[in-house]
Amino acid sequence: MKIGTYYYPEQWPENQWERDFDRMAEMGLQIVHMGEFAWFTMEPEPGKFRFEWLERCLEMARAREMDVILCTPTAAPPVWLVQQHPDILPTAEDGTRDRFGGRRHYTPTSSAMREAAVRIVTALAEKFGGHPSVVGWQIDNEYSSKDMSRLGFDQGAETQSAFRQWLRAKYGSIESLNRAWGNQFWNQYYTDFDQILIPPTREPRYGNPHQNLDASRFWSRAFADFNKLQADILKKHVGQRWITTNFMPFHLDVDPGAIAPDVSLMAWDSYPITGWVRSPTNDEYRMGDPANISFTHDLMASYHGRWGLLELQPGHVNWSGYPVLPYPNVIRLWIWTALAHGAEFVTTYRFRQPRFGIELFHEGLVEPDGVTPSPGGEQFVHVIDELKQIDKAKWNAGADNFDPDSTVGLLFDFEQLWWYETLPQAKRWSQPHWVRLWYQAAARRGLRVKVLHPKQPWPAGLKLVVAPGMQMVDDADVQQLHEFVGGGGHLVLTCRTALMDRNGQLWEGKLAHPILDMIGAEIEAYDSLPEECWGEVEMDAKKYPWGVWGDLLYAAEGTKVLAKYSNQFYAGAAAVTQCKRAKGGSTTYCGVHGEAAFVDALVERLATQIGLKGQSPPLPSRVQVIRRGPYHVLLNYLDTQVVAPAAKGARFLVGTRRVEPAGVAIWE
Ligand code: GAL
Repeated sequence: MKIGTYYYPEQWPENQWERDFDRMAEMGLQIVHMGEFAWFTMEPEPGKFRFEWLERCLEMARAREMDVILCTPTAAPPVWLVQQHPDILPTAEDGTRDRFGGRRHYTPTSSAMREAAVRIVTALAEKFGGHPSVVGWQIDNEYSSKDMSRLGFDQGAETQSAFRQWLRAKYGSIESLNRAWGNQFWNQYYTDFDQILIPPTREPRYGNPHQNLDASRFWSRAFADFNKLQADILKKHVGQRWITTNFMPFHLDVDPGAIAPDVSLMAWDSYPITGWVRSPTNDEYRMGDPANISFTHDLMASYHGRWGLLELQPGHVNWSGYPVLPYPNVIRLWIWTALAHGAEFVTTYRFRQPRFGIELFHEGLVEPDGVTPSPGGEQFVHVIDELKQIDKAKWNAGADNFDPDSTVGLLFDFEQLWWYETLPQAKRWSQPHWVRLWYQAAARRGLRVKVLHPKQPWPAGLKLVVAPGMQMVDDADVQQLHEFVGGGGHLVLTCRTALMDRNGQLWEGKLAHPILDMIGAEIEAYDSLPEECWGEVEMDAKKYPWGVWGDLLYAAEGTKVLAKYSNQFYAGAAAVTQCKRAKGGSTTYCGVHGEAAFVDALVERLATQIGLKGQSPPLPSRVQVIRRGPYHVLLNYLDTQVVAPAAKGARFLVGTRRVEPAGVAIWE
């Protein structure tokens, strides 16, 4: 539970370093990251290493008993490398090469880039692998295509050939690729792997969507391979220290699951307020979405248990276009949210606000003067102080007290994100939003969410598993769902489940045929409405709006109808069904993509039926209570006060029973 910051000594005059380290130490910061983006300063000419500056900074950290996270600098290849090997640069669709400048101007498939990365990472690891202040290593920074576009795949020769190689390994023969891609459609047959090109974007533009899906898989693998190259070097030199890289939430270029096996700790970067949510209310606009934030925390925890928050928005950012002024104290709330969800550490980008460069409007913990704390800096200091009230052993002892009676399993499959992006069918469908609605419904009932992955073992004893929008499935996926229900589990499946195989091809059979057995219903038809248009669905005599997707269900005998459509020509058609299965299990099929109130009500109903007990009584939306050992942590993402549901006589260690807007309370 340490708190820290990125620091870029190479961006500041050397005679200020000691003072900056003093300031970090005075503020109580316990971790400093260095080295990120400093490739040129470390290796100003090919093979000539300059590490004295970094060594001095490491000593400054050591003298102040600060932990160091060292970063490999590969996100910012130096000019000499680009000059010598222009082929490391990504190539655009029209064949033009990117140019030097900024960062991320490399393609992970480039052999020259890989060689240069091996050289710098080896030198860095040999030099500092055993340094006593270094606690962990961050590889690269936020893997993504150059312009962070959600779409672009490099079009360079090495990527083309790596894509073909990957396809060869996956399919073995061109005939089997033709089948998987449905190439009989419009006679898109290939006769040789060498004829194949990686598409420029995830959007098929009326081309072959199956090819785009494979391109997404390949591209993620390309970054994972590049990461592994570095991780394998580090492993030889760093002993027990952890290795990680920092992910962006729901970012499509890399599936964190592809990288997880090669790192020992998962980490992400959280920027909760961007102004992109066009919500005029304080809580949405200035505090962010707690379900969004917490889902990614729990996703990170789902791989190894160990995770950390590497970058946490410290105030204004420069890149969103809407420089939202954060709600007072919300940064403190974000820090506690991460800790309550089990983060080993929380650090921020960055210590000093820069005076120059594209991010000069990006706040840090201190102003560009290097001394004056920003409002975010003050909140970091506040939490560092509050942490002194917490007994770390007790906090951590209760870390993973998995309690099946208060936990919901939420099945998340990254591949589905790619396929929805490539072939959305309904414009309004957002898989991240759909997943978050279920997350939020569980959280506000005081239930903990365990993020589950297909084909990985799920914790024994889990009573309720929700699998939102698992559109592509294979036999093993279906088998896993069957086994869960067959063993007495309660399963929730939703619209757009099991419509296709993992190549994205429909079945030669009824819609969703692999699960029809399990759900005891059939899908007669589906409907979707345009933006701002709402249909109505009725459950327990209450009406709710829906608009994104609605399956019209036909319930088999013995299957209960929990909700029906209540307008349009199909009023009366079933929207949600439930059927009992052996050993007391059940399958609920939520055929309608309702909004928060509807999903909340359905989860509430199921939790009551199954007897799940929240770790707190039901809470208003945007409020969470999390148990850690003997502690209860209340996180209030509302701009109104809430009263903590604490027992009489509870001892408050942080905050009070009346929790202020954007406030935190911890009681024992
Ligand atoms: C992150 C990135 C940082 C910094 C930050 C600005 O995405 O990893 O290096 O650019 O954004 O908010």
